[in-house]
Parts: sequence; C-alpha cells; structure tokens
Amino acid sequence: MGAVTALEPERSAELGEVILKVEDLVKYFPVRRGLVEIVRREPERAVKAVDGVSFDIKKGELFGVVGESGCGKTTMGRTILRLLEPTAGKVTFEGIDVTALSAEEMKMLRQRMQIIFQDPYESMNPRLDVFRIISEPLKIQGIVKNSHDALRYVEKVLEDVEMTPPEEYIYRYPHELSGGQRQRIAAARALVLDPEFIVADEPVSMLDVSIRGEILNLMLSLSRERGVTFLYITHDLATARHICDRIAVMYLGKIVEKGPTDSLIKHPLHPYTQALIGAVFVPDPKKKGFGRVLKGEVPSPVDPPSGCRLHPRCPIAQDICKEVEPELVPAEDNHLVACHFAIG
Ligand SMILES: Nc1ncnc2c1ncn2[C@@H]1O[C@H](COP(=O)(O)OP(=O)(O)O)[C@@H](O)[C@H]1O
Ligand SMILES: [Mg+2]
Repeated sequence: MGAVTALEPERSAELGEVILKVEDLVKYFPVRRGLVEIVRREPERAVKAVDGVSFDIKKGELFGVVGESGCGKTTMGRTILRLLEPTAGKVTFEGIDVTALSAEEMKMLRQRMQIIFQDPYESMNPRLDVFRIISEPLKIQGIVKNSHDALRYVEKVLEDVEMTPPEEYIYRYPHELSGGQRQRIAAARALVLDPEFIVADEPVSMLDVSIRGEILNLMLSLSRERGVTFLYITHDLATARHICDRIAVMYLGKIVEKGPTDSLIKHPLHPYTQALIGAVFVPDPKKKGFGRVLKGEVPSPVDPPSGCRLHPRCPIAQDICKEVEPELVPAEDNHLVACHFAIG
C-alpha cells in the first residue's frame, strides 16, 4: 500500500454529534424451500445475514466495519441505506427515521446518503461516458435541468477526486480508464450530490495495492477537510487501521468488538479480533491472545451456533459460551466487547 497519512491521536475528541444511529438492525434473507421441504412441512429458514447490530457514527467520523467475507458487512451497509429493506431495527440519520420513510422521501434523502460499491466496473453502465455517469444522479435528483448545467458540477467534482484536467477524462468510457480511475469516478458520482454520509463498501479491494493508498487518502481528506462521514466496510484490518477513527469487528451478523482504532488494534479483547490481528500484523509475543488461531471455517448464517457464535472455533471457549450469548459491553473507555472471557 502507498503512504497513507497517519491519524492525529486527538482526532476522535473533536468529532461532532451523532449523525447516524443504527439500532438492533436485522436483515434475514428467506431461503427458498424445495418441493421436498414443502411436502415435509419443514419450517421456513433464513440466512441471518445481519442479526441485531447497533452503533452510532459521529459527524465527520471514519467508522470502519471489519470482518471476513460473508459476515454480513455488505448487507448491513445496503440495509442502512434502504437499498435492502430491513427485517427489523431502526436507522436514524440526522434525526430522521430512515426506516419509516416512503420511497419518495427516501429518494430525497439519498442525496445526502450515498454508496460507493466494491466493484466500480460492475456498478457502472459501460455504455455511458464519465460525464453521463456522474451527471445521472444530478438529473435524477432534479438538481440540474440540462447537460449544460451539469457540466459545471461534473468538472468540479472531477477536480475534487483529482482527475485533472477534467476535459481529459470527461468523455471517456469506463473501459478507457484504469481500475483506480474507475474507483475515482465511482467516488465522484457519489460526491457530486455533496452528501454528508457515504457507505464505502470495500472501495479498494479490487484495486492494485499500489493505488489503494491514493483512494484511502482521498477518503481521509474528504472526511478531514469537508467533514464527510464514512462507513468504511472492509475485510482488511490493515487499511481500516490506517484511516478509521473507530472500528467495529463483525462476525456472523453481529458486532463482537468496537472501539477507537488505536485501542482496538493495540489491545484487542475478543478472541476473534485477536485472531484477525495476528493474521495481519506481527504478533507481539509478550501479549496474551496474539497469534491465536481459530479452528475450522465460518459456519453457515442459516444455522448460526448457539450462545456465542464463535464458540465452535474459539480457542478459549467454555461451556457457558455454548449456551449464553455474550452482550456487547464496555471493557475500557469507548471500547466494547462481547465475550465471556475477554482478556487484554
Ligand atoms: N440477496 C441475498 N439472498 C440470500 N442470501 C444473501 C443475499 N445477499 C447476501 N446473502 C448472504 O448473506 C450473508 C452475508 O453476505 P454479505 O453481506 O455479502 O457479507 P460480506 O459483505 O461481509 O461478505 C452471506 O451468507 C451471503 O451469502
Ligand atoms: Mg461484501
């Protein structure tokens, strides 16, 4: 990864009030039953992709959600923006109950809440040029009446994402751009509406390592200089560590640990976080828990394990872990963990 600007340590203290509040968010996908199941009257089952997730994000904050593939990050991000309908729970944005809005009201709010997808190539129409890709949301939102009006916005936002001079890129098609340039266009399309909040779902995981730093730095400067709030979704703890103010760790649809980045990386309390960190950073042999390895694979979210969902894989699990689900409770300042035997 390229050089990424380090965070100032006092940063979290300066953040504003809560902009986004997620309370007990649940998203289940029904599993289609085959004829055999229907005839046998087997109960309907569901993929419990997101299963009771709560957190707050402050204005201007870069909040990371980290977890292995399949743990429910994308579903959570899309459900927050109502690109998927929540099964239960509540999302409040700037005091507005997002979960209660009509489709028309949601369309208006979408101007303020945007998403950048993992794969910019798949999320872009290959038949549209950069100008049309970026100006489309402006037209949908009724911000501009014609292409002449849109041009000003598009040129400005191309400068914001450092694609200069704009005239060099504005009439290119997605296939005429590099992966990094496409991700900048995806960012520009989200930014052209001047949103306050952006869900960035694995925005750098499809990119070459050498250009990841540029996109991460772009997010950092948007947060620091413009006060844009980010929910940064990633499977990669290393990138989250570089840019996030706080990190939540997700496992099988639940948040298992949440805290300021420094505290979470230096003193991970949950065996799952410890295993993730041990796999990425050089373990410190003096610290307990580092270098722990989990057994087996991530179980299916259709039948998640009882009690603590990590228990079948956890190296320190006891009997209670099979029976009682641990709650996410404060262990240190602003640092919460859901484990019966959390150790520092
Ligand atoms: N539309 C869907 N229908 C059924 N299952 C889904 C759907 N989308 C995601 N899932 C399942 O939900 C779980 C979480 O997926 P996802 O949110 O994509 O995780 P992540 O982004 O952390 O990799 C996975 O088991 C996935 O297969
Ligand atoms: Mg995903």
